[in-house]
Amino acid sequence: MTAKYAIILAAGQGTRMKSKLYKVLHPVCGKAMVDHVLTQLEQDNLDEIVTIIGHGADKVQETLGTRTKYALQAEQLGTGHAVLQAEDILGDKEGMTLITCGDTPLFTAETFAKLFEHHEQTGAKATVLTAKTDAPFGYGRVVRDSHDEVEKIVEQKDATPQEQAINEINTGVYCFDNQALFKALHEVTNDNAQGEYYLPDVIEILKNAGEVVSAYCMDDFEESMGVNDRVALAKATEIMQRRINEKHMRNGVTLVDPKATYIDVDVVIGQDTVIEPGVVLKGNTVIGSDCVIGAHSQLNDALLADGITVKASYLEKAQMAKNSNIGPYSHLRPEAQIGEGVHIGNFVEVKKAQIGKNTKVGHLTYVGDATLGQEINVGCGTVFVNYDGQNKHHTTVGDYSFIGSGSNIIAPVEIADHAYVAAGSTITEDVASRAMAIARGRQVNKAGYYDRYPVAKAAAETEEKNKS
Ligand code: UD1
Ligand code: CA
Repeated sequence: MTAKYAIILAAGQGTRMKSKLYKVLHPVCGKAMVDHVLTQLEQDNLDEIVTIIGHGADKVQETLGTRTKYALQAEQLGTGHAVLQAEDILGDKEGMTLITCGDTPLFTAETFAKLFEHHEQTGAKATVLTAKTDAPFGYGRVVRDSHDEVEKIVEQKDATPQEQAINEINTGVYCFDNQALFKALHEVTNDNAQGEYYLPDVIEILKNAGEVVSAYCMDDFEESMGVNDRVALAKATEIMQRRINEKHMRNGVTLVDPKATYIDVDVVIGQDTVIEPGVVLKGNTVIGSDCVIGAHSQLNDALLADGITVKASYLEKAQMAKNSNIGPYSHLRPEAQIGEGVHIGNFVEVKKAQIGKNTKVGHLTYVGDATLGQEINVGCGTVFVNYDGQNKHHTTVGDYSFIGSGSNIIAPVEIADHAYVAAGSTITEDVASRAMAIARGRQVNKAGYYDRYPVAKAAAETEEKNKS
């Protein structure tokens, strides 16, 4: 079998993005563009992948890690010059080399595979992947001769008006005979409008040397889209999002309004889960089967088992066990672990806390740095006071206990199982099993005191008015 290699061009700055972030690192549906490219290539069983880095080299390496080899292009003198930097790694190898850009995130592994196949079948030394579009502006145009054979590729800035009218474009993806590629690259000059060493010039060089050069026109222009500015970034995101959403729907997930549903590429969702409009699912979020993710919820790296309902809530790096529910308007922060059957109601914040099976935290409560057992009822307006201004402290509440509304539980403190905290208590000491803790001032009623206050006068006036 012929050996297969790939080169990803990712050394450019991406000036047209007008960004501090290097172009190929801009995310599309939660993954850097260049990572999308690598992820697809990884599915093609290649012998070696080399990424050309320059601008933001460290950051690109950090993003892609050891999944690819790297060659540094210290100065960005053009795409042809970029490929030449891989010569030390690939130059003497026999086989086929696919080249693609780090700013074309929509190409699929299947398309790359088809290009390899076409290239091998035609026995060409170079095959350029092309596409047809009514809006070719900005792309290199594919010039064909009278026999419809590829002659050369002309960049936008070098194209004559007739060439600009050509609607077949260079997608920026090619397959080459590896050795022919590196030989021809040495012949590329920078005699053009941009003063750059253009990779596409290799096509003409090989053609003039009498080699077979071929073009493989793909059906879907959309897939070949290159991202040079933020307008294109949004367009690519829209296309990628549609693809992701269709995949989930085909897998048995209901998206009530797919156009208003934003799901990152690595999110996993189980069957018969319903996702309502305005939902954002990010990062490595995993959602089980039979869940309902209600309108305007956002989940970042959240882990949800089956049968969970989330209503208009925000979850980050949190976990929920089966048949639990949350919301509306609650917030799970990192290391929140919500147990099976737990009810988290509205306006509740949970951080770094485990909440045991069937426990209820219904309203207006903060649970931070705490371990709650099962079957506990936490009353409305309870605050787990975990911070003394310098350190965080931990609270434990045992099974079947009851925390009355409006309580402050000042950590560090332990409330045993089957304990009862009276409403409005400020708990600073441990509570034993089967005990009742009450920690608040006793009520004093002072007869007639109402009339001492301005409210009495105002009320009298209102009463008078209501009579007439
Ligand atoms: C390039 C092609 C054009 C094609 C289009 C498809 C050339 C000269 N033109 O144009 O024919 O239609 O892609 O999207 O190749 N890069 C480097 N080092 C450099 C220059 C660029 O690594 O010195 C990288 C960039 O990071 C980028 C890729 O090469 O990922 C393409 O460069 P870009 O400047 O975006 O080329 P286009 O103008 O889009
Ligand atoms: Ca580009």
